[in-house]
Amino acid sequence: MKHGFTGRRLHAAGGTLVATLAVACIAKAAHADSKKSGEHVYKETCHACHATGVDDAPRFGDKAKWGPLIAEGQAIVTAHGWVGVRKMPPKGGKESLKLEEFARAAAYMAKAAGGDWKDPDDKLMKRIKLEEKKRIAELKAKKP
Ligand code: HEC
Repeated sequence: MKHGFTGRRLHAAGGTLVATLAVACIAKAAHADSKKSGEHVYKETCHACHATGVDDAPRFGDKAKWGPLIAEGQAIVTAHGWVGVRKMPPKGGKESLKLEEFARAAAYMAKAAGGDWKDPDDKLMKRIKLEEKKRIAELKAKKP
């Protein structure tokens, strides 16, 4: 950290830094894995309900609430959340979210409550997609 900057110059330097970071972000997004991290998605989308437990959403870090879900298993619980369950909106209410990003965010929350969930690999993604299909069929069958 250099000293002796005037406030004005510091401000200008800050602007350049922000611009540089923005460029770095765009460059990063263009790479093969352009998907957002679980933490990123959580903070952007899931946090709105899961931080405080809106409508009884399992709260971030709440082991008592997450315990049974963790026991039920990553593929099933991720798929059910993705399709939507009661007041949990499909895709967390964010239409542009990819399944893999949603799954990472779910894993991020489960990990914070002691689960050993991981960012899904291809094998796990296949199981999640299978559970998604099952769930959709199940919900359709319930409708008159
Ligand atoms: C508008 C509020 C809201 C937002 C935003 C939201 N959730 Fe939820 N979520 C809920 C509620 C409410 C429940 C509890 C549903 C129930 O069991 O009745 C829930 C439950 C879940 C569950 C458990 C599903 C199950 O099988 O019981 C998962 C997983 C989940 N959310 C993941 C996410 C992820 C990941 C995001 C962000 C991408 C997200 N949620 C964003 C409200 C929300």
